[in-house]
Amino acid sequence: MALVLGIESSCDETAAALVDSDRRIVAQRIASQDAEHAPYGGVVPEIAARAHAERLAPIIAGVLDDAGVTLADCDAIAATAGPGLIGGVMVGLVSAKALAMAGDKPLIAINHLEGHALSPRLADSSIAFPYALLLVSGGHCQILRVDGVGQYKRLATTIDDALGEAFDKTAKILGLGFPGGPAVERTAREGDAKAVPLPRPMVGSGEPHFSFAGLKSAVLRAHESGAYAVADIAASFQQAAIDCVVDRLRIALAEMDDVDTLVVAGGVAANANVRAALEQVAADHGMRFAAPPPKLCTDNAAMIAWAGIERLGQSDPLDISARPRWPL
Ligand code: KG4
Ligand code: ZN
Repeated sequence: MALVLGIESSCDETAAALVDSDRRIVAQRIASQDAEHAPYGGVVPEIAARAHAERLAPIIAGVLDDAGVTLADCDAIAATAGPGLIGGVMVGLVSAKALAMAGDKPLIAINHLEGHALSPRLADSSIAFPYALLLVSGGHCQILRVDGVGQYKRLATTIDDALGEAFDKTAKILGLGFPGGPAVERTAREGDAKAVPLPRPMVGSGEPHFSFAGLKSAVLRAHESGAYAVADIAASFQQAAIDCVVDRLRIALAEMDDVDTLVVAGGVAANANVRAALEQVAADHGMRFAAPPPKLCTDNAAMIAWAGIERLGQSDPLDISARPRWPL
């Protein structure tokens, strides 16, 4: 049995986890920086990097301690090497390099998006390649065909904002606080999704790409008009966003008739309404639907450690660079 230490620091969660090849999350710790960034209504890169630098070492030590193991018991050190906020990625990657060097362990540099993409396989051993993946986070909004580890074909992406970003900007416009996605979901429960007429950008287009900038602008106009309750705008926004995702997915799935599983990953996959809509899309296509538990959807180190398990045998050089951009 193999044991991998995973490190995640690409945005505003400082996290470490130990995952074994039996899919057990042996230990994990995660420190959110929500309180630091909330006054600014979004993640401030410099504040994030400093917070990672302060917290990561004790978090790693804590995880080893929780599991009752030492560095010597780990088979590899896996860390997010990008894409993300470069200061934070560097803190995590440099820490992983130091541990790999000190423990004479292989370093496995993980693409954060691959962490999300493979996370459903950590949660459920029956999810086999190939699968269709909707990856929806704060920075990304893509539909991919996943044929294996490192084998990703991107069928769709966003031409402007990511879906999580649209939730965050809507929350900011409506004064719902930070982080925005969960706040919009909570507020939407009290609202009427049909109350506010909002556009569905790209719906009907033959290419499966996304666009959310126009929807965000419409939310701003609706709010400034003073004609609608905040909960109604939140509910109507969430429904419009879901309608867009469902329509785009139907186009992309038409190009993947040999694939029988639809998987969703990334922070927005924590949204219960999004999950329910996707479950319906999968049912309509005679596909199986899988979504990791919400805690594995938002940024975490268990998915990075798991990607390390999937990549065991790989050993990256100690001079490997952190990458702010790194397409899958
Ligand atoms: O995957 P993630 O934790 O970080 C990135 O890699 O970006 O995703 C964070 C994004 C944020 O935009 C956040 O608002 C969104 O996921 N999110 C949600 C929910 N929980 C997190 N969006 C909608 N509903 C949620 N419940
Ligand atoms: Zn993420």
